[in-house]
Amino acid sequence: MHVLVSLVALLASAYNVLAGSMPSKIYGVNIGGWLVLEPWMLPAEWEEMGGQICDDCSDCIMSEWAYTKAYPYKANTEFANHWSTWFTQDDVNELVADGINTARMQLGFWIVEPLVDRATEFYPEGGIVYLQQGVKMLKDAGIQVILDHHALPGVQTGDQSFTGNCTENVQFYTDYNYQRALVWTAVMTSLSHLDPNFDSVFAIEAVNEPIMDADETPDYGTFQYEFVDTVRAVELTLGIPVPGLSLDVQVSTTNFTEALGQVANASTIFNPNVRAALATAAPILVELSVQLSVPALLNTDLASGLPSRTTLLTTFMDVNWQYNDPPNPANAAIGPQGYDNHLYYSYGGVAAANPTAYMESICNLDRVQADAAVGDSPLWFGEWGLPTQFNATDEFLYMWADAQKLAYSKGAGWIFWNFKVEQSELAGNLSRQWSYIEGVKLGFLTQDPSQYHNASVCAPYVSSS
Ligand SMILES: *[C@@H]1O[C@H](CO)[C@@H](O)[C@H](O)[C@H]1NC(C)=O
Ligand SMILES: *[C@@H]1O[C@H](CO)[C@@H](O)[C@H](O)[C@H]1NC(C)=O
Ligand SMILES: *[C@@H]1O[C@H](CO)[C@@H](O)[C@H](O)[C@H]1NC(C)=O
Ligand SMILES: *[C@@H]1O[C@H](CO)[C@@H](O)[C@H](O)[C@H]1NC(C)=O
Ligand SMILES: *[C@@H]1O[C@H](CO)[C@@H](O)[C@H](O)[C@H]1NC(C)=O
Ligand SMILES: *[C@@H]1O[C@H](CO)[C@@H](O)[C@H](O)[C@H]1NC(C)=O
Repeated sequence: MHVLVSLVALLASAYNVLAGSMPSKIYGVNIGGWLVLEPWMLPAEWEEMGGQICDDCSDCIMSEWAYTKAYPYKANTEFANHWSTWFTQDDVNELVADGINTARMQLGFWIVEPLVDRATEFYPEGGIVYLQQGVKMLKDAGIQVILDHHALPGVQTGDQSFTGNCTENVQFYTDYNYQRALVWTAVMTSLSHLDPNFDSVFAIEAVNEPIMDADETPDYGTFQYEFVDTVRAVELTLGIPVPGLSLDVQVSTTNFTEALGQVANASTIFNPNVRAALATAAPILVELSVQLSVPALLNTDLASGLPSRTTLLTTFMDVNWQYNDPPNPANAAIGPQGYDNHLYYSYGGVAAANPTAYMESICNLDRVQADAAVGDSPLWFGEWGLPTQFNATDEFLYMWADAQKLAYSKGAGWIFWNFKVEQSELAGNLSRQWSYIEGVKLGFLTQDPSQYHNASVCAPYVSSS
């Protein structure tokens, strides 16, 4: 009896490790440059593919859009080659050896292929199969996953390769593109709960790095509510309990995609945009059930719910990411929610370009408290790195790594940008300050991410006032 009980407990705890859950302290890396390719991180491979590198990415072939437009016939095969080589089991093994417990996975809207208007938009096809393989590798390694909507339909910010299209024509903050993002959200929420390969997903992030000036992001606050509602509508349809919310529709099918249609048709607790997103997602999921072999999308005992699943953390950049009276995503929360901030010193505007100023800044960082005061908690630092505006000595990088980890661990933890960057003559010294795996090899980052070279590194810099 005892043996049986402990066996059951053991199985239950093993399953808990697999089912997505937020680590008590996040020690993470971004899987950047993979499903959203940023040429600056792999310049030699990009040029080998036929891409170009220039100072202003709108001036040359320096985004997925520009590449696919230039090479319509070879884009899919070139990207398939990239997807199968940039992030591999060897990388996952290194991340495990380095004690990483979380991966933030960069995704473009075009990974949900029916959302792309092929007449006017240019993106490679086939990425979703690699996403499924990638999250499976991470799950098998016990690494928890955040699905990060990194590149939004219509692009969420100007002149950045990371949005997929380097352009000043920012169109995300419009009804048409908000709606496409909701459909994307319904699809990703459904896969996270019903495809066992996605079992370690614990959070979906709505929008990576929206424009900081809230005057330029009209209706983003409404989108925040609708994003949360879309995630929760999918979860309620699946029979997953959502705190404070229950479905007003009796679902009468084991076909989940059909159930989405029933909820879209009949529910009065969700607004027309959210219901339209469910209805549009349903046929997309029917296709994916075949393409990705996910039978549960068409056959799940919805009446009993999914006992092993709990609500995902809806996730947003923190309210203090924006200025000019931004909407606070905390107001939109239903159930668990997480907040993300990104801090880079190398682009200027944070601290004067010298080691002492950097240390004084990071050692007195008050972002965690400032966010918590307005309800944006838990907060993690979803992007940071070791880059500097000056030529940093090795001695400084040991301190710089320690001090940042200390600052970000006052919150829910940190996620380094990036898990790796290219090592090539063209990339030069890029990996020294931008690659987590290389940073551990060089010793700046401790092999055990919870440790420090010197946990008192900030002592001389903390101001008393
Ligand atoms: C994408 O970029 C091109 C320039 O390369 C621009 O003409 C087009 O309007 C952009 N599309 C969107 C949706 O922003
Ligand atoms: C499930 O429902 C969808 C409609 O959303 C339908 O297209 C599909 O054929 C159904 N599949 C099964 C196996 O019932
Ligand atoms: C939704 O309502 C439309 C229009 O009444 C109907 O044609 C469709 O079959 C309904 N879908 C589901 C899944 O109930
Ligand atoms: C950093 O070092 C490189 C190579 O030694 C040099 O070209 C560059 O000017 C230096 N940058 C700064 C900001 O000192
Ligand atoms: C690259 O890093 C090494 C070691 O820190 C340094 O000696 C060299 O000057 C750097 N090169 C450039 C181009 O910055
Ligand atoms: C750690 O850093 C503090 C502050 O700079 C310094 O006083 C102390 O000597 C350092 N400890 C070690 C072991 O280097």
